[in-house]
Amino acid sequence: METTEAISPYYERGGEADRLNTGGGRLEFLRTRDVLRRVLPAAPARVLDVGGGTGVHARWLAADGYAVRVVDPMPLHVAHAGAIAGVEAVLGDARELAEPDDGYQATLLLGPLYHLPERGDRVTALREAVRVTAPGGLVAAATISRYAGLYDTLARGNYLDPDVRRVVEAEVATGVHDPLGQELFTLAFFHHPDEIVAEFAEAGLTAVTRYALEGGAWLFADRDGWLDGGERTVALLEALRTVEREPSLFGISSHLLTVAVVG
Ligand SMILES: C[S@@+](CC[C@H](N)C(=O)[O-])C[C@H]1O[C@@H](n2cnc3c(N)ncnc32)[C@H](O)[C@@H]1O
Repeated sequence: METTEAISPYYERGGEADRLNTGGGRLEFLRTRDVLRRVLPAAPARVLDVGGGTGVHARWLAADGYAVRVVDPMPLHVAHAGAIAGVEAVLGDARELAEPDDGYQATLLLGPLYHLPERGDRVTALREAVRVTAPGGLVAAATISRYAGLYDTLARGNYLDPDVRRVVEAEVATGVHDPLGQELFTLAFFHHPDEIVAEFAEAGLTAVTRYALEGGAWLFADRDGWLDGGERTVALLEALRTVEREPSLFGISSHLLTVAVVG
C-alpha cells in the first residue's frame, strides 16, 4: 500500500533492530513494557503485535508466556521477529489484517499509527484491531506527540537549520511529518494528545486511558545516566508511573500509549 512504500527506504536501513537499546529509545522501551505489563490480560493469552517491527516487544511478551504474532509490512522486520523463539511473524498491513474476528486477547499497535498520515487510515487500522480482539480484550496504540519533533530538533540543535525548521513548523501545524529529504524521521503523523481519543471513539472504543510514556524525561541532559539499569533507573520508572496519567504532561511526552477494553 502507498504509505508503506514511502517508509520502506527508511526501515530498510535496518535501524529498528537496535533503536530501543539506547537513549530515548531505551526509555520508550522500558516505559512501554512497564505499562503493558500492568494492563495486559494475564498470560497465557494471544497477543497480536501489529507493526511489531523486529520483535522488540514480542521478545519479552513471549518470554512472559504470551502467544505472540507479529504483523509488519517490512520483510526485514518480519525476518528478524520470526527468528525469535515463540514468536510468529507475517507480512501484513494494519488496515487490512488477515486475522480472524475475536482471535486475540490483546492487539498492540506500537508503530502503525505513526505511519498513517490519513485519519481515515488510522481509524481503519483501529477498527481492524477491534475486529480481531475478543470482547473483554485490550487494544493498545502508541502515538508520537505532535511536539516531539520540535523538542527533539531543539535539543539536538538541528532546529537552527532552516530546512529542518520548515519540516518542524509544518508538522506542528498539521501533524504530518514529511522530512522533505532531510535526515529526519520518515513520512509520519504526530498526534495531538486529544486526536487519538477521537480516533479510538470513531473505531468504537469510547472508554480510553492514556499513558504518557516518557513524560519530560526523554529531554533530560543526563538521560542516559538515568538508564544504566541501576537504582536511578528504578527511581525514574517509579516517578514516571506516578504522573503517567496526568493530562497536562501528555503533550511533552515523546510517546503516548492509549488503551481501551473492547466491549
Ligand atoms: C517505529 S517502528 C516500531 C516497531 C516496534 N513496534 C516498536 O515499538 O519498536 C514502526 C513499525 O510500524 C510498521 N508499520 C508501518 N506502517 C504500517 C502499517 N500500515 N501496518 C502495520 N505496520 C506498519 C513499520 O514497518 C515498523 O515496523
